[in-house]
Amino acid sequence: MYKYKKHIFVCENIREEGSLKPSCARHGGSEIKNKFKSRLSELGLSSIIRTNSAGCLGACKHGPVAVVYPQGTWYGKLTLDNVEQIIQSDLINGIVVEELEIKDE
Ligand code: FES
Repeated sequence: MYKYKKHIFVCENIREEGSLKPSCARHGGSEIKNKFKSRLSELGLSSIIRTNSAGCLGACKHGPVAVVYPQGTWYGKLTLDNVEQIIQSDLINGIVVEELEIKDE
């Protein structure tokens, strides 16, 4: 059994064309998840930090969305350019990337 120190769940939900609710996969969610996965592998960290695909995480208006556990930090409006910053700051050093964090409403 593997014991990961952290998990990042990235929403890849996609709704039907024309849906009134947004969906992360229509705004790059899958590409963002794939970049987390490949960068963590390149850095030799994929045995301790797990990237998981997620269905809708319930924060659609903030999408693309990801959440880091165990601390439960939510990130929104992500782009491919944010992946490295989250890896280096949060996933490796435990420092929340505040400008990307979804604040409580
Ligand atoms: S579609 Fe991504 S959080 Fe709902």
